[in-house]
Amino acid sequence: MSKIVEETAKEAFGKVTDEPILEVKNLKTYFPISSGKWFNKETKYLKAVDEVSFYVNQGETLGIVGESGCGKSTTGNSIIRLVEPTAGEVWFKGENIATMKSREFKPFKKNIQMIFQDPFSSLNPRMHVFDIIAEPLRTNKMYQGKDLEQRVYELMDTVGLDPDLANRFPHQFSGGQRQRIGIARAIAVKPELIICDEPVSALDVSIQAQILNLLNRLQRDLGLTYIFIAHGIPAVKYVSDRIAVMYMGEIVEMADKDALFKATLHPYTRKLISAVPSTDPKKRTIGEEQAIADELNQGESDVVGCKFADRCPLARAHCREVRPDLRQLRSGHFVKCHYPLEQEALEENV
Ligand SMILES: Nc1ncnc2c1ncn2[C@@H]1O[C@H](COP(=O)(O)OP(=O)(O)OP(=O)(O)O)[C@@H](O)[C@H]1O
Ligand code: SF4
Ligand SMILES: [Mg+2]
Repeated sequence: MSKIVEETAKEAFGKVTDEPILEVKNLKTYFPISSGKWFNKETKYLKAVDEVSFYVNQGETLGIVGESGCGKSTTGNSIIRLVEPTAGEVWFKGENIATMKSREFKPFKKNIQMIFQDPFSSLNPRMHVFDIIAEPLRTNKMYQGKDLEQRVYELMDTVGLDPDLANRFPHQFSGGQRQRIGIARAIAVKPELIICDEPVSALDVSIQAQILNLLNRLQRDLGLTYIFIAHGIPAVKYVSDRIAVMYMGEIVEMADKDALFKATLHPYTRKLISAVPSTDPKKRTIGEEQAIADELNQGESDVVGCKFADRCPLARAHCREVRPDLRQLRSGHFVKCHYPLEQEALEENV
């Protein structure tokens, strides 16, 4: 068991709840990419997720935040095995689901659902809303006949959709309503954990709060646990209990929400907090985000030290030579940095 996982379990979160519902340990998801000439091809790897470890406690929301291309979606997709992880463990309610055969994984898959960023492309445009919501219930043989009908109407009502609209197609709904359909579909099979992958970033700002409030209410009413993925700080700040900050496939800081904002330790987190990027993906510019994505797409780089060194105002020679470990500086507050910000401030004041 890695240091972070041991410390997290015993010191950080043991007091908060009895048992974490999900434990991710040293998760790696690498995508092979080729380089070189025809006969001299060598396989390099794009380390989309690189030794990621975290906990999610029952009933809480863990926010995962970081710039485009840092590996947030791949982390979520690896947990539910939409992509197969390269290595690592994913413990869900005491079972390592990362290495299970697909037949064994099926009941767990039902228990972990996903809400996607773009409700339009994640909903089948040729299906009525009724069938979209009923599909997972049919697949899992949970309801039939009148009971199925009843359940679908009940779900529509729960997410704030008029059940009379069940025979319409997704394109006949607004963006916010379509996300409500996606949410109804996700909660239909009574999951315990939902991975929300940028669920509001494709929506108008005026609608975002409504969807976030709906997610909050459902969490309270249904006892749900969320992993909430976002590229910007505002949404994660609004919904999360704890936040993990990702940079180039790694978690660089993780803490309770208040601690993360009041006593930021990692220079990248500070940059992210002060930047507060646009919540509208259409407004994302080809700037630093693209630079990060390009850097990642080059595959395994020669970086031996800290991956943030080239952008870090505090970088020293040691940072470029030795990769920092994720270490716990305060109870529940982890940072992957040799010279964390608060320590830096203390040294300056000596
Ligand atoms: N199936 C795949 N094959 C190859 N590379 C992939 C695949 N999926 C993702 N990647 C790459 O892995 C890296 C991480 O991608 P990922 O989608 O997880 O980032 P993200 O943090 O969710 O970004 P965004 O905020 O834009 O959604 C990116 O460089 C991406 O191009
Ligand atoms: S390890 Fe060094 S380069 Fe990396 S974030 Fe910390 S101070 Fe900056
Ligand atoms: Mg993503």
